Amino acid sequence: MSLLDQAAAVRENAYAPYSKFKVGAALKTGSGEIYVGCNVENIASPEGTCAEAGAIAAMVAAGETRFSEAAVIAEGPRPVTPCGGCRQKLIEFAEPEARIVMGTTSGETMEMAVADLLPGAFGPGHMR
Ligand code: THU
Repeated sequence: MSLLDQAAAVRENAYAPYSKFKVGAALKTGSGEIYVGCNVENIASPEGTCAEAGAIAAMVAAGETRFSEAAVIAEGPRPVTPCGGCRQKLIEFAEPEARIVMGTTSGETMEMAVADLLPGAFGPGHMR
């Protein structure tokens, strides 16, 4: 199963009764392990979490902190791209050249390097 397929599978478990926009994410690490996450909304909307955040939390909880490949999928007219906050979260745990595949449930895909998601990102180089 491809990483995007894994993201599509976990997307089925998304809890998105408010937006009706289900998202799935999957991260592959150097060890070959795959961690998945889905969006989990809340009636108090700011308390909802994105699929990418869930996958990152699963990876870190399992004791890993670097992923080499990411995938995110939703149903829509064009491949879903991570929100601004998730771009910063993803960059924390990947090399700049790590690939992210974004897709739609109908089969459209788009791929880019994680670093290209957030040009000029705040990073350790900005701090003394
Ligand atoms: N969402 C994600 O989980 N990941 C993204 O990359 C884009 C947006 C979720 C947040 C919210 O539950 C729903 O999609 C609509 O914004």
